[in-house]
Amino acid sequence: MREILANWTQKIPESEIRRLLKSKTKYYLAGGLPGNLPTEIFPEILRELADYYDAEDQRIVNEFQYGQTAGWPGLRKVLAERLVRKDKLNCISGEADWEKVLISTGSQQAVYLALDILINPGDIVVTPSPAYLGFVTTVVKVGGHVVTAPTDSEGLIPEYVEDTIIKAEKKFGRKVKILYVVEDSDNPKGTTLPFKRRQQLFEIAERHDVIVICDAAYKEMQFEERIPSMKTLDKDNERVIYTSSSSKEAAPIRIGYSVMPEYLLFEAEKSKGYLDLCTPTLTQRFAEIYYDKYIDSELPKIIQKYKEQKDAAYNALLETFPDGDYTNPSGGFFIWYQAKGEKAYTFDVKKFNQDVLLPNEILVVPGSAFYPPSGHSYDPEAREIEPLKIIKGGMRIGYSLLPKDLIDAGVRKLGKLLSENQ
Ligand SMILES: Cc1ncc(COP(=O)(O)O)c(C=O)c1O
Repeated sequence: MREILANWTQKIPESEIRRLLKSKTKYYLAGGLPGNLPTEIFPEILRELADYYDAEDQRIVNEFQYGQTAGWPGLRKVLAERLVRKDKLNCISGEADWEKVLISTGSQQAVYLALDILINPGDIVVTPSPAYLGFVTTVVKVGGHVVTAPTDSEGLIPEYVEDTIIKAEKKFGRKVKILYVVEDSDNPKGTTLPFKRRQQLFEIAERHDVIVICDAAYKEMQFEERIPSMKTLDKDNERVIYTSSSSKEAAPIRIGYSVMPEYLLFEAEKSKGYLDLCTPTLTQRFAEIYYDKYIDSELPKIIQKYKEQKDAAYNALLETFPDGDYTNPSGGFFIWYQAKGEKAYTFDVKKFNQDVLLPNEILVVPGSAFYPPSGHSYDPEAREIEPLKIIKGGMRIGYSLLPKDLIDAGVRKLGKLLSENQ
């Protein structure tokens, strides 16, 4: 029967994270499920919605209908205002520019739409190494070609990104089309790009005429003051596709939103129309109230809890892990650890996870999950594009789900097992 399937189904494996979600362990450090949600305000919003609509009211028919493909205007207005007030975007003026905000079903859909409308077979996309698997895998699914660029404890290294673009264009004889950046608390490394690097990456994108997909999925989950996005440098709204999400602090509503150049917005809306016609109006009404009235008072409480969880994980790591490279995130859900030197490429965390961690009630996500099924890597030593180089000896340690005492115990246990097995 396999021959009736589309070709991509044979090239793209099941996501490692989805596979790991099926295993239940006491110390679950694998998925990025948000463990702290504003549970008290959810019933309030539901009550507010119920009070607003009267059973006889035509508004129910009007407002819980199929909606505009680009999203419910009320929600887009609230978000347009917030994007200017909180994120300091200057390519839109605020509420009046609500039509420039595109709503999606999660930001994953926005990322998919961006790739769907931009990628022709073989088009090159430069991503961090390692990178969000929902992005790199989708690039390959739609026919693109991933070239990874090295990262350090602050994320992408601009000098290497520029050289990656130059060398990839030379090697493959075609222009690089997209640069993918997660500025705040990247997944999986948890790194945050300093403003200077954001500026440099934007300039590189301009110099080489590359579109930037700036994925701001973790921007609300910052323990420190937010750094302005690269999108604020794109004053004429010509180069950067900016996507963000409700998912990290209000996961149940699964609202994504994006701002992008107008010629892309038109195509993205067209593509979304064929994917889902529209995002459910009920959740958009819910999200409108959430963003209008609650998010700013709820966020600090939620962020404080994640910070405590991160501190528990980080301190346990410092005390128990063998020598290696690791990050100390200033936001988001993940710490990255990788074995030192050559072991970063040889120590097999996927096997270690399965054979050693799982029987000990622990799970992490192996570094190898954060690479595309095919592609190339820039090697900073050779300064050349090489076959894909995977940091197999890396792991993503998620601290978002468990309470801090379990995180502390789980990471300590993990450190002990790593010391014995690495
Ligand atoms: C970097 C990054 N971008 C995008 C997404 C998609 O998020 P959602 O569709 O829940 O908004 C995720 C989810 O984990 C992510 O980590």
